[in-house]
Amino acid sequence: MSKNKPIGVFDSGVGGLTVVRALMERLPNENIIYFGDTARVPYGVKSRNTIIEYTTQIVDFLLQNEVKALVIACNTIAAVAGQKVRQMAGNMPILDVIAAGAQAALATTKNHSIGVIATSTTVNSNAYARAINSQNPKTRILSQASPLLVPLVEEGWLDHEVTRLTVQEYLKPLLAENIDTLVLGCTHYPLLKPLLKKEAPHLQLVDSSTTTAEATAQALANTHLLNDSHLPPDYRFYVSDIPLRFQTIGERFLGRSLEQIEMMRLG
Ligand code: DGL
Repeated sequence: MSKNKPIGVFDSGVGGLTVVRALMERLPNENIIYFGDTARVPYGVKSRNTIIEYTTQIVDFLLQNEVKALVIACNTIAAVAGQKVRQMAGNMPILDVIAAGAQAALATTKNHSIGVIATSTTVNSNAYARAINSQNPKTRILSQASPLLVPLVEEGWLDHEVTRLTVQEYLKPLLAENIDTLVLGCTHYPLLKPLLKKEAPHLQLVDSSTTTAEATAQALANTHLLNDSHLPPDYRFYVSDIPLRFQTIGERFLGRSLEQIEMMRLG
């Protein structure tokens, strides 16, 4: 039965585990298979062609594993290779963090001025602005590449003075434009929510991991693909490399222990 098949979730590395965490909470019956390209992360500074090539390999792998739906957990992949994924995967539901985040941001903003923080490749692709403006052309979108936040989160410096100063620096131009909503346009940034709330308490934060989990739940319900089995869910995690401290970092993103990790080289 296709309802019992897993949801395929993928990312450039461990960051997408924030989306897996939200999916586990929102859809506790679903089986999940995750692929993180830890051997080739970060994607956020790579070119479009390279990201499309890597994405093709990941999607091939997940399709071989008979997934019933795909969730693009990586903002950078969604920004430049979302179309490729949709071409490859045909009719199954395909969700991505940018579509979900854009919709949530529009539902949140009152003054129609939205800030987006993301990797350089995501910001340069203009994907968030396109997704938001396709639904409401009058909304202003101010984007700020914030690449230093990725290694700071991986280092676990979630409430550190260096991170605070870095956040202040990145937010300065956005706050000057009077935004009322901030999209966390990178897998790593949801972990910085407590610090961001302290630094900019008046901003509404849009966490793409929870909005993507909600969009996935709706898409599965609409296509009658929700898993109605009462067996405990099966979670499988594949990565292309198991770097030092992988377990610690991964568990921080996932919010629980990370079991059944297998290594799978692609390409
Ligand atoms: N997963 C990426 C994203 O959401 C961040 C890490 C990377 O640059 O690969 O954009």
